[in-house]
This record gives sequence, C-alpha cells and structure tokens, in this order.
Amino acid sequence: MEIYKEIHLDKNSPQHLYMQLFYKIRQFIMDGQLKANEKLPPIRQLANTLGVNTSTIVNAYGLLEKEGFVYKKIGSGTFVSPRKDDRLEDVVLEKYPLDEDIRLMDRGQIQIKENMISFASATPTSDLFPVDDFKILLNEVLDRDKGDAFGYQESQGYYPLRESLVDYLKEINIETNSENVQIISGAQQGIDVIAKAFVDYKDTIIVESPTYTGAIGTFKSRGAKIVSVPILEDGIDIHLLEENIKKHHPKFVYLMPNFQNPTGYSYSKEKKLKIIELADKYNTFIVEDDYLSDLSFYNNDNATLKSLDENDRIIYIKSFSKIFMPGLRLGFLVIPKKIHHRILAAKHTSDISTSGLNQRVFDLYLRKGIWKKHIRYMEKIYRERFDVMKNCIEKYFKDIDISYILPKGGLNFWFSLPEGYDSNKLYVEGAKNNILILPGSIFFISQNESRFFRLSIAAVYPKDIEIGIKGLSQVIKRFIKKDTKERKGPDSYTPLL
Ligand SMILES: Cc1ncc(COP(=O)(O)O)c(C=O)c1O
Repeated sequence: MEIYKEIHLDKNSPQHLYMQLFYKIRQFIMDGQLKANEKLPPIRQLANTLGVNTSTIVNAYGLLEKEGFVYKKIGSGTFVSPRKDDRLEDVVLEKYPLDEDIRLMDRGQIQIKENMISFASATPTSDLFPVDDFKILLNEVLDRDKGDAFGYQESQGYYPLRESLVDYLKEINIETNSENVQIISGAQQGIDVIAKAFVDYKDTIIVESPTYTGAIGTFKSRGAKIVSVPILEDGIDIHLLEENIKKHHPKFVYLMPNFQNPTGYSYSKEKKLKIIELADKYNTFIVEDDYLSDLSFYNNDNATLKSLDENDRIIYIKSFSKIFMPGLRLGFLVIPKKIHHRILAAKHTSDISTSGLNQRVFDLYLRKGIWKKHIRYMEKIYRERFDVMKNCIEKYFKDIDISYILPKGGLNFWFSLPEGYDSNKLYVEGAKNNILILPGSIFFISQNESRFFRLSIAAVYPKDIEIGIKGLSQVIKRFIKKDTKERKGPDSYTPLL
C-alpha cells in the first residue's frame, strides 16, 4: 500500500481525478514499480487512502483494464497484466539475465560485456568521433563568445547555426529558411516535442511496422493509439496506409523513408511521391525521421520526403548521432510554417533550449567546411564495414534457413528466422557465444513478432564482422536444429498489452 500513499490527486486540476489516477498507476506499471500479476488495492481501501469517491477508483481501474494494463478476476480483484518480458520465464535462461536484458532493450539500452561482438548497438564507436577538430573549434568559440556561450540560448536555436543549416539543407535539395528550422537536443527529443505539440490521449498516430523503438515509447507515453502498417522492401504498404489514414484520421504518420530502422529498407521514388500526395489528400502531416540518409552506398535515390514537399506537409527530423557524436545531443527540425508556435512551445517546456555551447561549435563545424571532410571520412569507414558485412552474410548465411533483403546503405540489416522460432532465444544463444544480436520484438507495437532480429555494423570493426557473422551462422544453425523440437506454432503466442 506504501506506493499508493505517494499518489497526490489534485482536485483543482482541470484533469479528472480518475484520469490523474489512471496516469499514476500506469506509470507505476511502466516503471516496474508494480509487477506483473500484483494485486491492486481494493476499491474502497484505495478510495479511503486517497480521500476520493469509490467511483474515481472504479473509473481509473476500468480505463487501465481497457488499455490492457490490468486484468480483473471475478471475486478476487484487479491485477497488473503480464508484459511479454515477464512471460519469458519459460525460455531456457540458465544464468543469463535475458529478462533484464530485454527490459533494458525496451528502454533503448543493452549491457555489453568485454570481448563481445555487438551487432546490437547502432551507435558508432567513440574512436570515430572527431575530438581533435572539436577541441580546436571549442576553444575558438570560448575565445570569441566568452560567457555568452554559457547563457540560455534562444529556444528556437542559435541563429547563426540555423542559417548554416539552411545552407546545409540546400545541398540535399531542401529549400527552406532559418524561421523554419528548430534546433533540438537530438532526434529523440524531436519526436517527443512533435508528439507533445500534437498528440492527446487516444489520438491516432500511424507508424511503420516494424519501427524505431524510441518512437514507440514516446507515442505510448502520450497515451496515443498507435496503428502500424507493414513496411515492404520498397517502403510502407501504400494501400494499407491509405486505408488506415481514411479510417483513423491520424494526427500524423511517422516514417523513416531512407534506410529505415530496423529493416534498412528504403522507399522507392514512387512511394515517396505517393506519400506526399496522401498527406495532401487527407490533410495530415508526415513526420520524416531522417536519422541516416547520408549513408547511401548503393542507392541512387536517397531523396528525403522534405525535398519533395511542395505543400509544407512534412515535419522533417534530422539526427547527427550516427554520423557525428551522439553525446552532443544535437539535431534539428524543419517545420511547416503553420505549426511553428506549437513546436516552439513544446520545445520550450521540454528543456528551454539546446546547449548553446554545442550549437556554436557545430555552427563553426559547418561554416568552416570541416563537416564535409568528416562526412566523407564516416562514409568511407561505414562503407568498408557495410561491404564486409554484405560479403560475410552472402558467404556464411547462404545455407541457413533465414530470410533477409540486403539494404542499399545505412547501418542496419534485418533478418527473419523461420515461422515459429523466437529471436529472444537466439539472443541468449548468441550472447553465450559473445555475439550480440538485437531481437526484433522491441520494434513492434505489440512485441509479439518474435522471429525477427537486427544486426547493426555501427559498432563493429571489419575483422570482428567476419568473426561475428561466421560465429553467428554456427549459432543459428545449432539453434534451428535444437529448437525444432521445442518449436511452437505462431498460434501459441499470447497477444501482449
Ligand atoms: C530512427 C531513429 N530516430 C531517432 C533516433 C535518436 O537519435 P538522437 O540520438 O539524435 O536522439 C535514433 C537513434 O538510434 C533512431 O534510430
């Protein structure tokens, strides 16, 4: 009961008491403070503790049940629903903390032990960070701006940097002006700010299936209804997308048209144009998450949707984390004119402004042309890894029963085990052999698509790619053989929350 004493319901708030209670208990569940199958307090008891009517508790419990966070047992009470990761106990865990690992992955983290070859992380290794260049420019900013570099920055972003970004955008065929550029503390914040500006409880957002875990987390945290549409080799299933836009009138559609995370697939030009057409036809926004279009190795067309956007329908998010330094927490949005004020207000209430010091250094980076040199360097490094990976996949995976479509650029490769196999289990087997993969379930809304997995080359050196893929091919062969006996049909999976 202790945990419930922390709840303070504000009778003066415009939000209904039962909604406040719903959010509090949902947070306890999502944070793991309330565990699967734990009983919620009896209605009258909680009403007394919180000093509210029993109807407040009844309504909050009812909403939690409707949203799948709790279940009721007639005559016994209300209990926290199990999540997928709580149901993994029947997996052969031995001493492996799979439950904990999967839980961490859900939050975008994974534990990497020494000597492990990690195809799980899509973050570049720190030896690729241009620390020396950065040091010189940092000193230049400090000498030039002194204390001003440490003041609060404009919420929209340091003006000279916004101007430099307009020039940067011109080179990738996006024509805009500094008024439309909003600096953000990384693309993740961009997704969050956009959601905050547009999404209320139960609003619909359409995403690709599978999609980026961090976006799922953000949209869930807004209480959004998330509708997912399968992605195919040449982009999202356009017919299903149109049907779902018609049916659900989403607040926006969230897409990664180039080297999608996690699949690595890129949209065809036709699909890119069709998406712009649909946004116009149904009067909706498209959020384009461009986390990686820079790394196009074998694709002639890595045009962004924003570069094709004649009617100001695309909210463009740019991250530099995969090609620069993720710890800088720097990215930007290009936003349609009519939503400037909303986005600015959401950004201001998130963190007031992105670090002015980092913005100033990055501005010099762009102005002095050092950026171009760095991008060429990163392209060279990643292209080598990409080629080694592609060759190793073709060499070592050719006689294994897994399917995949090789991407034309980017850092991610997406695989599917045969129907009925579970990549969470493969993760355990790989980890025992010091090879980390990323199970695919975290990229799906319902998390019950478990036969997929993602391998990323961002953090693996070419010689380790060869060792890792060779080793993994043996692990997969053994796994498929061994697991055949215990293999479950797809019908035996229980749907999740
Ligand atoms: C598709 C996608 N969007 C956004 C992000 C977050 O990027 P940032 O570090 O810029 O916040 C990531 C990080 O992996 C990503 O894969």
